[in-house]
Amino acid sequence: MNSNRLLIGLGQLAAAVTLLGATALASAQTGDISQGAALFATHCAECHSMKEGKNKKGPSLFATFGAKAAQREGFAYSEALRNSQLVWNAETLSRYIANPKATVAGGKMKYEGLAAASERNDLIAYLAHPVQ
Ligand code: HEC
Repeated sequence: MNSNRLLIGLGQLAAAVTLLGATALASAQTGDISQGAALFATHCAECHSMKEGKNKKGPSLFATFGAKAAQREGFAYSEALRNSQLVWNAETLSRYIANPKATVAGGKMKYEGLAAASERNDLIAYLAHPVQ
């Protein structure tokens, strides 16, 4: 029957959409940690350390993944970041690292931004799972 065929077609479409969604999610979570470590060394380490409590020009990024913005002790954050209500996850970190000034207007991270999404993905994998 035609209506059965239509139902099967819809089922296949739903399965395909689910699969696509899962693939996109997996790629967001499977950045290359060692590439991320290298990018961190080049782009971020001048101002940031992954060591707990070690603030430099920027705050320590130890356990920042998953945390609310502007929570590290002993670091003088901008009012803009303190009031941002951001929680650092893959999506918010990617936006901030791509363009800190646009994401937190009036913030004080003097970094021009990392344009390549795949590099941001690798960097975020490292921030979430640093290797010492
Ligand atoms: C020139 C110094 C500098 C560089 C380079 C830099 N940052 Fe920052 N970063 C800062 C400063 C300063 C702040 C605090 C911003 C504020 O208070 O508005 C900050 C804040 C942050 C925060 C928010 C931390 C928190 O506790 O909420 C994250 C995440 C972050 N930086 C990630 C990065 C990453 C990843 C890189 C490399 C791609 C990078 N930063 C490069 C100076 C820098």
